[in-house]
Amino acid sequence: MTRERNGREAKPEKRDKKVTTKSLRLMKERKQRIVALTAYDYLMAELLDQAEVDVILVGDSAAMAVQGRHTTVSVTMEEMLYHAELVSSAVERALVVGDLPFMSYQVNTDEALRNAGRMVQQAHVEAVKLEGGLSIAPTIRRIVEAGIPVMGHLGLTPQSIHKFGTYQVRATEPEEADEVRRDAKALEDAGAFAIVLEKVPASLASEVSKSVSIPIIGIGAGPECDGQILVSHDMLGLYTKFHPRFVRRYAELGEQMKNAFARYAQDVRAGEFPRETESY
Ligand code: KIV
Repeated sequence: MTRERNGREAKPEKRDKKVTTKSLRLMKERKQRIVALTAYDYLMAELLDQAEVDVILVGDSAAMAVQGRHTTVSVTMEEMLYHAELVSSAVERALVVGDLPFMSYQVNTDEALRNAGRMVQQAHVEAVKLEGGLSIAPTIRRIVEAGIPVMGHLGLTPQSIHKFGTYQVRATEPEEADEVRRDAKALEDAGAFAIVLEKVPASLASEVSKSVSIPIIGIGAGPECDGQILVSHDMLGLYTKFHPRFVRRYAELGEQMKNAFARYAQDVRAGEFPRETESY
């Protein structure tokens, strides 16, 4: 077994088994890094699953990546159910997590439980994600008690963008860092099976990862988390409106697509498409 930084396994054994919340916990124990990405449709989900991504999040980032909005707050429960069902129907191996959108879980725990239940029952996801710390812990407990696994989300929480006013790195001040430490513990105690930790200093993320028994999946939170997640449209170079430094671009699909569309347009206009061999 090849070992890399932090004594974590770089090349785990072939993973062909279905990923569950339990296997994620085992991966943390075995120091195997968890690989997570987002998807919003069948085709992307199928490709991610074939690439053996462990967790596929149907993120409310759909609002930006698919709908072209400026924030995540506008996407609705109905729209998330639609995206989540498309993703679930494509996935065989990965754990599929459905994001609960803004205002689907904040009003009261009854509504939160009902919407979490709809995600599982109607969209066939295996877990839900919601944002927030100590104050949302009773809601998480209620959903978990009903048999629905919950992933938390701390640090930069995009659904609160209008409260914070910026997407800058969070928890750089000691009080906010303490809040993150406290919130991670509260979510673990409430029964969350994992936590997404977004855009906080790497040293804090490392400390939090070591302080709880559930996996911490980082995004812009440095290399010492138990796993990493990115928005697929960001790492593929499809969403290019802004480019935070934590996004590594693994492809420039936006440029490639524009190029393909322009070449097609040129060929059609010049009468060079279709050829005889492309006709009947
Ligand atoms: O909605 C989303 O895509 C997310 C990721 C940024 C973790 O919450």
